[in-house]
Amino acid sequence: NAGGSLYDRIGPDALSALVTRFYSYVAQEPLLTPIFPADLTVTAEKQLAFLTGFLGGPPLYHERYGHPRLRARHLPFEITPARARAWLACMNAALRDTPQISADDARELYAALSRVAVHMVNAEDHPA
Ligand code: HEM
Repeated sequence: NAGGSLYDRIGPDALSALVTRFYSYVAQEPLLTPIFPADLTVTAEKQLAFLTGFLGGPPLYHERYGHPRLRARHLPFEITPARARAWLACMNAALRDTPQISADDARELYAALSRVAVHMVNAEDHPA
């Protein structure tokens, strides 16, 4: 269904590949490793479930874990503007390195995630 949701266009396999690649970059990003668990397996499973529903596929996250309450769930972690940019840079790199996702779909997905990421910021940058 080329005209359907972003999820229909990207498909479960490419989305899973994207999420795996994304967390491999998160694991190498010094701004992000202090707030993420060392083992990102469960985090990646939850993110794949969330993005599946967010992009218009089956609401897997809601079915498994309830309402995501994303901003509240991120409050225990210090998310500065610099960390939000680092998170988005990991996503941008993962999109670039997932050729199954077209450039148009990658742009649309990145724009949607950028809008959500702004709302996860809950702390100010540290002065240099
Ligand atoms: C979980 C950081 C943006 C969706 C997490 C966790 C951290 C984190 C530290 C907890 C990992 C764990 O304990 O397993 C960040 C940072 C962001 C960001 C620094 C930068 C802005 C986003 C965005 C989304 C998102 C934009 C959605 C589009 C999720 C989901 C979880 C999660 C679904 C799992 C929640 C759960 O435990 O059930 N994030 N996040 N995050 N994040 Fe983010």
